[in-house]
Amino acid sequence: MAVLVTGGGGYIGSHMVWALIDAGEEVVVIDRLSTGFRWAIAPEARFYEGDIADQDLMRRIFSENNVDAIIHFAGSIVVPESVADPLGYYENNTVKSRALIASAVEAGIPHFVFSSTAAVYGTPKVLEPVTEDLPLAPESPYGSSKLMTEIMLRDTANAHDFTYTALRYFNVAGADPKGRSGQSSALATHLIKVACATALGKRESMNVFGTDYPTPDGTCVRDYIHVWDLAQAHLMALKRMRAGGGSLAANCGYGRGFSVLEVLEAVKKVNGSDFPVTFAERRPGDPAMIVANPGLAKRELGWVPQYDDLEGIISSALDWERHLMRKNSY
Ligand code: UFG
Repeated sequence: MAVLVTGGGGYIGSHMVWALIDAGEEVVVIDRLSTGFRWAIAPEARFYEGDIADQDLMRRIFSENNVDAIIHFAGSIVVPESVADPLGYYENNTVKSRALIASAVEAGIPHFVFSSTAAVYGTPKVLEPVTEDLPLAPESPYGSSKLMTEIMLRDTANAHDFTYTALRYFNVAGADPKGRSGQSSALATHLIKVACATALGKRESMNVFGTDYPTPDGTCVRDYIHVWDLAQAHLMALKRMRAGGGSLAANCGYGRGFSVLEVLEAVKKVNGSDFPVTFAERRPGDPAMIVANPGLAKRELGWVPQYDDLEGIISSALDWERHLMRKNSY
């Protein structure tokens, strides 16, 4: 049996491909390489360059490989970009996911893991870590585009012989502990990536977006999770579905939050250097605080995070950034 990874040339997808290979799985990747990289895809994986909404290509992939599960990462991921270009996000994330799900149903693929997001919750009304039964109220087109896909998966699972796991990622950061992949996009806007690039002098300075949030230090609080722990949660979701477990939507975070300022302090400490930051306006679409309650993933998947350590996450992100500098790839 083979696992099809969409977006396997991207940040999280490329880690997933390595995690599957490490687990002895046969892996097939589809990526149109709009933001992903061919070099980031493990050579052991079979690669198809193309679009997940190309139903002829999907038919070919399913006829040439014995796929029993799809892990779907392909999509657009930048919250403020989604605010500026909502229709682009609904097209790329929702419409194309619909086409992919239709191809999966047509080919009788029984299992599907979807990269969903904490953004489906918007700003939670409670201060505690969020559980999956809270109201789903995304505040950005990005979050809405992902929630719509969750809804399509739910309804598809009700109608067909099809089970899915939607993993709601909190803030993913860090790099493969074996150094085979990392966040490689020069356009990445994520806090730890931007802070590491600034610490290493690849950027002159960076912004702190908003200092007047109702949080302890006025900056946004997030639950930063190591990309390798996240990849392991997908492996466990796959195992559970193959063993007959039903559909599930579960949070992937550690259950504790750090503010933007705390993250910047940690980057400075780990790198042993200071760097300039500019205090700027709030960024559109940002909730003040969101932290996961990961109880469901732990109970249902048997997920046991191994890398719950902010400085360790930052250290691996810095290592990858240095690797990119040596490669001169950005
Ligand atoms: N931030 C800065 N400066 C930067 C970059 C980010 O201050 O240069 C701040 C943001 O304003 C936000 C926090 O750092 O308050 C985290 O921002 P990221 O861009 O790193 O991540 P987001 O929280 O916007 O989004 C991420 C994922 C989404 C996911 C979401 C859940 O990209 O997929 O977390 O909260 F849905």
